[in-house]
Amino acid sequence: MSSAASAVQTPKTFAPRIFSGIQPSGGLTLGNYLGALKRFVEKQDEGIETIYCLVDLHAITVWQDPKVLRQQTREAAAGFIAAGIDPKRSILFNQSQVSAHAELGWIFNCVARMGWMSRMTQWKDKTAGKNAEAASLGLFAYPALMAADILAYHATMVPVGEDQRQHLELTRDIAIKFNNDYDVDFFPVVEPVIEGVATRVMSLRDGTKKMSKSDPSDQTRINLTDDADTIAAKIRKAKTDPKPLPDSIDGLKDRPEARNLVNIYAALAGHSVDQVIRDFAGAQFGTFKPALADLAVATLSPITAEMSRLMADAAEIDRILADGADRADALAQPILEQVFDITGMIRSRRKPSTAFQG
Ligand code: TYM
Repeated sequence: MSSAASAVQTPKTFAPRIFSGIQPSGGLTLGNYLGALKRFVEKQDEGIETIYCLVDLHAITVWQDPKVLRQQTREAAAGFIAAGIDPKRSILFNQSQVSAHAELGWIFNCVARMGWMSRMTQWKDKTAGKNAEAASLGLFAYPALMAADILAYHATMVPVGEDQRQHLELTRDIAIKFNNDYDVDFFPVVEPVIEGVATRVMSLRDGTKKMSKSDPSDQTRINLTDDADTIAAKIRKAKTDPKPLPDSIDGLKDRPEARNLVNIYAALAGHSVDQVIRDFAGAQFGTFKPALADLAVATLSPITAEMSRLMADAAEIDRILADGADRADALAQPILEQVFDITGMIRSRRKPSTAFQG
């Protein structure tokens, strides 16, 4: 396509398609559940085409014990299904089973610029105070592989928590640069879908830090595998301040721990923060925390129970992942073949039907 021709063409429209992923580098947390998983289920139930991926290639950007990684990948798959992902309606698979991710990731390593990668706050955070020279090259290139995850499917929408915003901006930049460099209108410019009251669930011990599966202290997070007593104990011991709950949202300003617990309550109950404030205005944490613990247990216990039931049959989980990977591969492979054509790779071993038609 000449640049004159591309200049007058209207941009291609892409069918709505959702892609998102979670690293199986630790157990799933309440942050993953409220910020991602619960919303993945909502998107599936809205009837949009949904593709969900356990990104095991991303997980090994920091060393993982192979046995534990396999276990955690199955556990995450069980968590998705237990939370309401239907592997017939959504595509659910692990990244390493679909080679298009790694292949397109390489192409994007050649599109993304070193400067873009060095400005990624997650790279800076993960290497802060440590020897960056000792970090893996994969950790540095991480966001290019993430762009490949999304763009290998021409996905248009990506539901994530707030911490992934910058990575999605980079995905947009990579798509735009690829389209410009090769003078094609090939990759969509994706929309981040960062919605709801729980896009940033904070640590139970420090309301200024994100709840994370990699935090050394288990007391900072609720895991989807925690039993009812553990959940209640963690909420009881969560850091708070001495004041009662305020009667307006403004009253949560400069009270990060109180705000976090109120947000968690709202997200679990499916209420607005306003509603929660109205219901608990003036209440002490001695009243609010048990109510939150009851709600958390009522919501999470059925998921935990279903997860452990599913985990008893590893072969069945592997079968579901294989089926998801076959369906994902069928979508990604023709797109990847077109990328190889666009970039000038000879593909004389493949069937002619997959060639790029400009
Ligand atoms: P990961 O595995 O850290 O987290 C998975 C999802 O959970 C969200 N999340 C949270 N949301 C709210 N509060 C929290 N405390 C919290 N912790 C985690 C994350 O925002 C994310 O949506 N790079 C990604 C994985 C990835 C991906 C992708 C995502 C790889 N390829 C392609 C989307 C599309 C990550 O490390 O997420």
